[in-house]
Amino acid sequence: MKHLCVFISHLLVVFNLCTMITFVEGRKFHSNCKKHHKGYGDSCTSTTNYNIMSFGAKANGISDDSKKLVAAWKAACKVRGGVVLIPSGHKFMIKPVTLQGPCMGHVTLQIDGTLLAPSKIGSWSKSNLYQWVNFKWANNLTIQGSGTVDGQGYNWWNPIKSKHISDIKPTAMRFYASEDVTVRDITIKDSPQVHLKFDNSRGIIVNNINILAPGNSPNTDGIHLQNSRDVEIMHSNIGTGDDCVSIQTGCSNVHIHHITCGPGHGISLGGLGKDKSIACVSDILVENSNIQNTLYGARIKTWQGGIGLVKNVTFSNIQVENVNFPIVINQYYCDKSLCQNQTGSVAIKGVKFDRIIGTYSTQPIHLACSNDIPCTDIDLSDIQLKPSGPLGGSQLQHDLCWNSYGNTKGPLVPSSINYCLKKGRDGSVNQITSSSNELC
Ligand SMILES: *[C@@H]1O[C@H](CO)[C@@H](O)[C@H](O)[C@H]1NC(C)=O
Ligand SMILES: *[C@@H]1O[C@H](CO)[C@@H](O)[C@H](O)[C@H]1NC(C)=O
Ligand SMILES: *[C@@H]1O[C@H](CO)[C@@H](O)[C@H](O)[C@H]1NC(C)=O
Repeated sequence: MKHLCVFISHLLVVFNLCTMITFVEGRKFHSNCKKHHKGYGDSCTSTTNYNIMSFGAKANGISDDSKKLVAAWKAACKVRGGVVLIPSGHKFMIKPVTLQGPCMGHVTLQIDGTLLAPSKIGSWSKSNLYQWVNFKWANNLTIQGSGTVDGQGYNWWNPIKSKHISDIKPTAMRFYASEDVTVRDITIKDSPQVHLKFDNSRGIIVNNINILAPGNSPNTDGIHLQNSRDVEIMHSNIGTGDDCVSIQTGCSNVHIHHITCGPGHGISLGGLGKDKSIACVSDILVENSNIQNTLYGARIKTWQGGIGLVKNVTFSNIQVENVNFPIVINQYYCDKSLCQNQTGSVAIKGVKFDRIIGTYSTQPIHLACSNDIPCTDIDLSDIQLKPSGPLGGSQLQHDLCWNSYGNTKGPLVPSSINYCLKKGRDGSVNQITSSSNELC
């Protein structure tokens, strides 16, 4: 192997490229590529495989294989180009684990088989209910494969079974303080709660994945982003019981495109500003996507009493089908039946809804901006929304437009959207939004 590598390296040195794949089992061998190609740096891509089977995994879907997964991760993390292999045709029962970096180099988690969470709530350790598979400080990580990450969350969704355990329900896969992470091709299903969460992370790519849970499973967000930036989510299919993608405070430069969303609650920013907290979200682009059979489509929601600023958000070219409320800004968000109005609000400035086309089942547009701070620079262009049921269905509501300033541009259907926005804005709003801007 060694000689082969040296030989190949001589052949390829001209191209400054060496791709060597060594298939090794367990910890016995290391790639020699780094040693032999010192000086060629990143152009030398070498991978070393660590198959979970070589670490003694039982792979029967019942025995606890968590320690085997952690051992394979640690081994892969110690080399450059380590690959953790979860082979196809096998099921691995994994209890909550933390796969921690930083690692020597790029790590790949190749999931071709199935990872199963404990199905009985009682077999989760009560000291760690926040997440199931937790990646921490994992930089330069790719998760890929034809396999499935199955949270088996149905017992958690049952309020009677989960009540006496805790209010906290685990997120299936969570990334904390991780940079340059790609998740692609896999299926993530039936999480107890959120499926895929990025927290304090940046440089995230999610591509060609499936996220699936029943439409009536509570709080099962597809992808949840908080305090994260430089995120691209694309070519994926997300259908759950809550938001397909949820963007929380501290997020900026998020690009979502070619997503199919539904069932669920659409693509949402917020709820922001809960308990008078600061919220800052900026530079969000959601485009070229389909949202079907959901409660909401493109939505921004904030609580009364918060502070901060949401700015530069675009929803463009979104095909909606049978969505109750396709376009929503709700600054009176409340998860109980009634919340008191309070002074102060997260300001909203620069939101564009462009080419939102299709059918709605309750109300075409709902812009409920705060009494104190109006929404400004709202753009509504090419909105074409028709009722999905028979015309004049009894549950249909007229548009609601409250305290929003900006511009409209046709075609607009229903034509009442022409009168949704107030023109211009007053100086006091500029003052408020610039002070919010300073906070953020
Ligand atoms: C990831 O790897 C690339 C290429 O080696 C490197 O440039 C980048 O700094 C790494 N990112 C992190 C967060 O370590
Ligand atoms: C608005 O956000 C988009 C990306 O979401 C970005 O490309 C653009 O530069 C931002 N515009 C401003 C004025 O910051
Ligand atoms: C809060 O303000 C809105 C808008 O003015 C109003 O419609 C709503 O009834 C108020 N809610 C309460 C609880 O006072």
